[in-house]
Amino acid sequence: MSLQSRVVEAFESRYGSRPAFVVRAPGRVNLIGEHTDYNDGFVFPMAIDRAAWIALRPRGDNRVVATSLDFDETRDFDLGRLEKGDDGWIEYLKGTAWALRDAGHALRGFEGIVAGDVPLGAGLSSSASIEMATARALAAVSGIPWSPAPMALLGQKAENKWVGVNCGIMDQLISAAGVADMALLIDCRSLETQPVPLPKGTVVVVLDTATRRGLVDSAYNERRAQCESAARLFGVKALRDVTSPQLAARASELDPTTLRRARHVVSEDERTLAAADAMRADDAERLGRLMDESHESLRCDFEVCNDGLNAMVEQARRAPGCFGARMTGAGFGGCAVALVAAQRSEAFVRQVEAEYRKATRLDPKVYVCRATNGAEILT
Ligand code: GLA
Repeated sequence: MSLQSRVVEAFESRYGSRPAFVVRAPGRVNLIGEHTDYNDGFVFPMAIDRAAWIALRPRGDNRVVATSLDFDETRDFDLGRLEKGDDGWIEYLKGTAWALRDAGHALRGFEGIVAGDVPLGAGLSSSASIEMATARALAAVSGIPWSPAPMALLGQKAENKWVGVNCGIMDQLISAAGVADMALLIDCRSLETQPVPLPKGTVVVVLDTATRRGLVDSAYNERRAQCESAARLFGVKALRDVTSPQLAARASELDPTTLRRARHVVSEDERTLAAADAMRADDAERLGRLMDESHESLRCDFEVCNDGLNAMVEQARRAPGCFGARMTGAGFGGCAVALVAAQRSEAFVRQVEAEYRKATRLDPKVYVCRATNGAEILT
């Protein structure tokens, strides 16, 4: 049974009527442009066919009452008295409500059923999916017009200030603004988005290494600080404003680690723009090569790969039909992504699963995914 049918059925059996709204907001996979969003740079993600769903109806009061099918638990809170609690799933709903209210939106309560199939902690943005689904639900019951970029900024604020993870804008923005069958080139400074179709005859494959990131927050914050200190040296707002020749000209003024971090970000912005050109030219070979180069830069200069990610990318590159492969998301575990010839995708999946298992004794999950719309109301 689809997740949509499951939340609707659970709603009907709990509340005895059809839901007033069913909303979904997707997870994402990033094709290229990693660790560039918080440097005001470019990213190139697509929203995927894995999402958070909420079936709901408005309430006459200020309460949000939500039942999670995944955690088999009902929790509630008062929109007029939002207080941080433990780290449970309800905090994502509360944090999003807080961010919307803090921005001056008058909110109405709702009750409903929540479920998701974005794997947790895999680097596919399960938290952004639940934040943007909540924002969509609150907007629907409160009569707030839906505008993806401002809503994504509020989702990011919930993640930064309520959940306490210092992420950039990519995950919430692609979850809010994704377009079916397209990847989205996002300028993380202006928040402009440009949909670009995948090269003809190719599919995007997500490769879950079955390794999970540990200590990712501290490593992520450390990378951010290193990027900011490099930008300061150049007297610019963010590394987005530095080109490769400018960086090379002043390389000796940076300590070796900061130089490598900056070199990744500056070259990754250039690769991301080149990837958009390659896609517009329908050039899968070139796009794949840029993805390969991105992985090498993340492995050697930004140092956010683990053994699982490196092993997965190596196996993917050897498998039938692969144009290119790289880690995706924050790194340190989670998923890789590959661009694969559609006609060879079944053989690709079979071989990578078998070879990765043999090489690591881990049990990976490899699947073709489809680009979907961002946060939307289904009924
Ligand atoms: C995480 C963050 C994003 C982005 C990526 C790295 O997914 O949430 O904002 O920084 O890492 O590209």
